[in-house]
Amino acid sequence: MAKRTSLHGFWSSRLAFVLAVSGSAVGLGNIWRFPFVAGENGGGAFVLFYVLCVFVIGLPIMISEVMIGRRGRRNPIATMRIVGEEEGSHSSWGLVGVMGIVSGFLILSFYSVIGGWTIAYLGYSLTNGFSGLSAGEIHGLFSTLLADPVKIVALHTVFMALTILIVGRGVERGLETLVRFLMPALILLLGLLLSYSILAGDFSGGVNFLFRADFDALTPESMLTAMGQAFFTLSLGMGAIMAYGAYLPEGTSISRTSFAVVLVDTIIALVAGLIIFPIVLANGLDPAQGPGLVFETLPLAFSSMPMGGLLAPVFFALLLFAAWTSAIGLLEPAAWSVESHGRSRRSVALVIGVVIWALGLLTIFSFNLLADVRILGGSLFENVDHLASNVMLPLGGLLITVFAGWVMCKNSSSEELGIGTGPGYRTWRFLARWVAPISVLLVFLHAAGILGILGLV
Ligand code: PHE
Repeated sequence: MAKRTSLHGFWSSRLAFVLAVSGSAVGLGNIWRFPFVAGENGGGAFVLFYVLCVFVIGLPIMISEVMIGRRGRRNPIATMRIVGEEEGSHSSWGLVGVMGIVSGFLILSFYSVIGGWTIAYLGYSLTNGFSGLSAGEIHGLFSTLLADPVKIVALHTVFMALTILIVGRGVERGLETLVRFLMPALILLLGLLLSYSILAGDFSGGVNFLFRADFDALTPESMLTAMGQAFFTLSLGMGAIMAYGAYLPEGTSISRTSFAVVLVDTIIALVAGLIIFPIVLANGLDPAQGPGLVFETLPLAFSSMPMGGLLAPVFFALLLFAAWTSAIGLLEPAAWSVESHGRSRRSVALVIGVVIWALGLLTIFSFNLLADVRILGGSLFENVDHLASNVMLPLGGLLITVFAGWVMCKNSSSEELGIGTGPGYRTWRFLARWVAPISVLLVFLHAAGILGILGLV
């Protein structure tokens, strides 16, 4: 069969692809979401279960997504449809792409709000800085921000506009340059913050909190959240990685590239945890305080560290960029899919972006005007996040891995992966066919209480 070629050209090099995928993977998920969900779920066992999910479920699905994307070389809906038909299955596999787009809408709606918070913190660090502020004053800064819906709406609007701008231009032009300098700079700054935490925080306490596992305390709900975090942080299960895989040149090793991205992403999340929890513990803060965690701990570090006044704006600028490159990945599958129906990319990005912006108001108001509205015991934000991250992404990932492992025949997948049919290939295929789907199912069933009813746990 003749190979399809990408309609949008290719990444200029393997490095460019690695950078783009890691730009999508590394974002608020690592630095904002990971520490706060780890804190809420008691650290330790949660963190280890998350790392397990990353390598046992996330890695084979990452490889599957890139592989399917490159095979189809279209937007995720068309790719799943075309490759599905080609493999003698059904065109309704395209629905996986549709569900991914909906997940992307939901996630971006709150992601952009948090992106707006980073803009606010960039502003604070540039104007007053945090130097000399006490923990109480830093807490006050955050709660004042949350209580000001007008300001958050404005910042959310700016963040969405930035995202629409790049997606409207076409990612392969905008993204490469952005990520090329972002990643190294972010890693350097995290390194500096880590040395601060080692010197000034309760580092051994932080390490204990993150890695000392008490598996008896791990609830089914926490396991679901840990799995959701693995999908969220790796951008899996919604077609973002598939869309980037579509531009990958032939001959680039999908498995090695995916492994590199998964490793870097996980290290960055763990380092973020190792920075934040020693500060939390040294200052008597609450690890389980929720989405404000990063915004209340890092300023505290900057307030007392040498050159904190200089480093704070650099850090929040980098966090903003990292969030931006991820937000682009969240919007891309939708923009590309609608564009394929003969619309201009700019107008598509704008219209979809405005819809997502409006959805984001729910998250904003759940921190102030609608704080009392609770559904199933959670705020509006928690419900949107839970549905998209813990349910829809793993479900999308499950379907993707079943597609890669069962629908695509051995010839197609081994040809596309280009690693022959040796042990490496067989390991991937075993994980993709059996281990990943069954693990996702088990976590779902466990969270739904079904394993308990059957007397299995
Ligand atoms: N992985 C991104 C992060 O960690 C979020 C994301 C999810 C981006 C899904 C694209 C798709 O911040």
